[in-house]
Amino acid sequence: MLLKLTVLPGDGIGPEVTEQAVLVLQAVADGFGHQLQLQTKLIGGAALAAANDPLPADTIKACLESSAVLLGAVGSPAFDHNPGHLRPEAGLLRIRRELGAYANLRPAVFFPALEDCSPLRAELVRGTDIMIVRELLGGAYFGSPRSIEGAPGSRVAVNTMRYGESEIERIARVAFELAMKRRRKVLSVDKANVLECSRLWRDVVTRVAKDYPEVKLGHQYVDSAAMLLVQRPTDFDVLLTENMFGDILSDQAGGVVGSLGLLASASVGGPVGLYEPVHGSAPDIAGKGIANPLGAILSVAMMLRHSFQLEAEAVCVEKAVSAVLSQGARTADLAGKAHAAISTTQMGSKVVEAVKAASH
Ligand code: IPM
Ligand code: MG
Repeated sequence: MLLKLTVLPGDGIGPEVTEQAVLVLQAVADGFGHQLQLQTKLIGGAALAAANDPLPADTIKACLESSAVLLGAVGSPAFDHNPGHLRPEAGLLRIRRELGAYANLRPAVFFPALEDCSPLRAELVRGTDIMIVRELLGGAYFGSPRSIEGAPGSRVAVNTMRYGESEIERIARVAFELAMKRRRKVLSVDKANVLECSRLWRDVVTRVAKDYPEVKLGHQYVDSAAMLLVQRPTDFDVLLTENMFGDILSDQAGGVVGSLGLLASASVGGPVGLYEPVHGSAPDIAGKGIANPLGAILSVAMMLRHSFQLEAEAVCVEKAVSAVLSQGARTADLAGKAHAAISTTQMGSKVVEAVKAASH
């Protein structure tokens, strides 16, 4: 199969982790007899610096002509004081929209080898396997009007949280379909005691649930869901959320399983899937060669599964990651006291070796 992709390394640790993810993908392609065709384009701060545009037209075109897009991270303190449309993040939000990627799947799976990494007691976190289904193109991230206006000292800021029934319905269907292939539980998160958007959300999700009688649907206010996520993480199967609640809870889920650096994501629903680790650009550690590449590598596994239907290849990558963790490989975020930390490239190489060993 021809794997035609665009790589958007982006900012901070993005280039370091995507480099390792691409090496793993190359090893998979070699081992399973696929052909990899890559082009690299600019997004975020890197694109602002080069072209004063966080998402140049040429990047959009390349992505739309690919079968899948691999993204590193976006965000740089150098542009913190830019107006909203000239911030790196504007490029990320726009590429999600251009690709129609309304469904962001963020698995948070506990690796048995990482018992010492979770801040939670092993008996609580053991067995955690959550699929966060985050709506990605609506809510406060995209609603208008939005503004900051007025004179310094008396400025007023406005954002708009907006959801239409069809947007809620399509993401709810994604959650229920996934639940059918898992443990058949959906927990829908909202703030229906306060927000109209959430009342509509609960209404529509309840209606969609009627088409999935085998799936057990629960509703939880987001504050309470945040608490349950640390108290009883193994109770969760599919966690369905609007855009901002999903952003927050997915970082928390990363903490629960031991490190945000482990979390991968797939942003799907449109013609071209976008695959990105959940972590950000981490400017504090950028360029040091210590970032954890496993989130990006596991995003490649999701790409193989969701964009190319290459399940065996996806499982090969996931097993390789699991194997190197079991051997004790740890980047700095996972090292703790008992292990010496290895570098980004060393971790990447270990996964490449494990893929090679499994696929030849
Ligand atoms: C994420 C990130 C982004 C988001 C930022 C960088 C815009 O935090 O993918 O979780 O909020 O969606
Ligand atoms: Mg986030």
